Amino acid sequence: MNNQLLKGKKGIIFGALDNKSIAWKVAEHAHNEGAEFVLTNAPIALRMGSINELAKKTNSTVIPADATSTEDLENLFKKSMEVFDGKIDFVLHSIGMSVNVRKGRAYYDQKYDWTIKGFDVSSLSFHKTIQTAWKLDALNEWASIIALSYIAAQRVFHSYNDMADNKSFLESITRSFGYHYGKRKNVRINTISQSPTETTAGSGVKGFDGFYKYADDLSPLGNASADDCAKYCITMFSDYTKKITMQNLFHDGGFSFMGISEDVMNNYMNSIKEE
Ligand code: NAI
Repeated sequence: MNNQLLKGKKGIIFGALDNKSIAWKVAEHAHNEGAEFVLTNAPIALRMGSINELAKKTNSTVIPADATSTEDLENLFKKSMEVFDGKIDFVLHSIGMSVNVRKGRAYYDQKYDWTIKGFDVSSLSFHKTIQTAWKLDALNEWASIIALSYIAAQRVFHSYNDMADNKSFLESITRSFGYHYGKRKNVRINTISQSPTETTAGSGVKGFDGFYKYADDLSPLGNASADDCAKYCITMFSDYTKKITMQNLFHDGGFSFMGISEDVMNNYMNSIKEE
């Protein structure tokens, strides 16, 4: 698609690790829609991933930043404004990581150093990013900030672990900072609550295949892909969504409003018959 929806807009995209990353797809679509942007990721991810390939393809600059470091974030926003010779219109926070999940610790047996690390990376980094932009007055009026969330912020998904708490906090920052940034600068802040998606972060959750299949069977439109999510992000960065702020927007093929579906019921009944 190429409707030049983001023509003239400048942005910062966090979190493109490889071509499965949701942020990668957002960068591709943003480029097609006429945006200019800086790509950023943690220094270690820049070494491991393939971001330079994406930068080349989208004609964008890469600036490393560990999103838990306010120093790195300051550097990122200052350098980005130099690259654009002006302020920023959109920011995508596409970052998530839980050490407890990675190391297989259960929710009721967390190692709290790891909990704090995961919280810093997955939630507090969003506040740090927004506060840095605020202090540097780096955003244009009507700029749009998006972070990616998951429905485990509202409902229990047994193996989503401490990431559920991190996503709840992320959505709370969206509301609280959305108020302040909206009131003072007409900047909007939202989260998009995305379907399970096959990416490095997604597949790290225990039992991901089951989550994925169940959500697909339950949702009338089926799971939303990373590509679908990217398209939604583009509309949220565009001027067509100027009055949407402080929201958690479900982008999940209808999953969030379902109780039971024919497919899920049939699979469940068949599994009982087999026992
Ligand atoms: P991904 O693994 O491709 O992206 C996660 C990114 O976070 C990576 O690029 C990683 O380098 C970056 N990151 C980790 N620590 C960082 C740090 N300290 N500083 C800067 N960046 C750091 O996976 P995906 O799925 O694209 O994840 C993007 C977002 O989407 C995350 O917030 C995730 O929780 C969310 N999400 C993912 C779903 C899924 O099933 N994949 C479902 C719903 C939400």
